[in-house]
Amino acid sequence: MSEAASAAWRRRGYNVATMRTLARARLPRPVFDFADGGAEDERTLRRNEAAFADYDLVPHPLSGSPARDLSVTLFGRKLNLPVIIGPTGLSGLFWPDGERCAARAAAAAGTAFCLSHGSVCTLEQLAATGISPRWMQVFIYRDRGFTRELAERAAASGYDALVLTVDNQMTGNRERDIRNGFKIPPAFRPLDVAAMALKTGWLWRMKRELPRINFSNYVRPGEVIDLRGVALRMGGLLDPSMTWQDVDVLRKQWQGPLILKGVVSPAEAAEAVKRGIDAVIVSNHGGRQLDGSIAALDALPGVVEAVGGRIPVLVDGGIRRGADVVKALALGAAACLIARPQLFGLAVAGEAGVAHVLDIFRREIDRTMGLCGLSRIADIGPELIRRRN
Ligand SMILES: Cc1cc2nc3c(=O)[nH]c(=O)nc-3n(C[C@H](O)[C@H](O)[C@H](O)COP(=O)(O)O)c2cc1C
Repeated sequence: MSEAASAAWRRRGYNVATMRTLARARLPRPVFDFADGGAEDERTLRRNEAAFADYDLVPHPLSGSPARDLSVTLFGRKLNLPVIIGPTGLSGLFWPDGERCAARAAAAAGTAFCLSHGSVCTLEQLAATGISPRWMQVFIYRDRGFTRELAERAAASGYDALVLTVDNQMTGNRERDIRNGFKIPPAFRPLDVAAMALKTGWLWRMKRELPRINFSNYVRPGEVIDLRGVALRMGGLLDPSMTWQDVDVLRKQWQGPLILKGVVSPAEAAEAVKRGIDAVIVSNHGGRQLDGSIAALDALPGVVEAVGGRIPVLVDGGIRRGADVVKALALGAAACLIARPQLFGLAVAGEAGVAHVLDIFRREIDRTMGLCGLSRIADIGPELIRRRN
């Protein structure tokens, strides 16, 4: 990318919303909608973002300081930023080698990166970059041996934490994907194909990549199988009859930090603590699964109370501003994860785009903290926030 082009997108993508606009212009519609959309009427998707507007900050600027420290410590590791990149399947569809681009940007920003089960590169290939902290996300499969196998591969590849996502055992009803024919194999309408041809930058970049797009963690060593074959295999892999016993088994198999993702119920959060889980992520999968599920921010205080400080509570869903991060921390979150914003960054400029998105968050958090009279993340507390009536 030329210097002029790089300066242009940076100037126009001055916040997450404008990065989204740039991503929409660059991506074929089915690909953009795959990232941007949610389940059914997208009520939970919208509510995730809207919930942040229900809270106001109560600044106390007379305790100002010359600089702010945005670092947090999680599982004994210092992160420079309370914003972690969450797992997103098929990131390699947004930019060649998307997962490794995003992971490098996270590492450069001094934060953690979580690889999705559905990554285009394998978990071993990501680990080979040496970036750290790196987390691996898995599910409970009908074949419990495969869950164990993924955990063992993650351990052998030196992953720092395992994330068990529990809100995806049946796939959500994502109607934008149905409309767009975004499935495997794709069923695009002629009009969509014609429109795709207009996304020349994406097509040019992805030309060689597209045949290689696959859920590579599911491909057996030495096996030659395309995306369609793997998708067929994956279709019946997840087990909706998963229970706490499965969590217990995984707890025994995985020695490092084990994180449950997709917890919105205070009772489940309390149970997770009892079962020796190291952290929970309050999440509704970005409104992609159960439409009508409680917004992540609305669920956060109940989970924080149930956990009672015994383990860190993380949160994702609808976080688009530094002020959103500060509000989540004021409600008791230890850190936040972002998913779609990093995909928008990837779509715009690969690694540089993700780095830019992380920098937007860093600058916005820093400014919000400065204007609130806060110098350290630990100073962010419940007195900083008021819920509107
Ligand atoms: C395109 C896409 C793919 C995703 N894939 C996964 C996945 O493989 N595993 C997972 O646990 N969550 C997945 N998620 C959910 C995100 O990790 C996250 O919980 C959610 O998107 C909320 O964050 P956001 O509002 O910042 O997007 C995905 C989200 C998107 C947008």
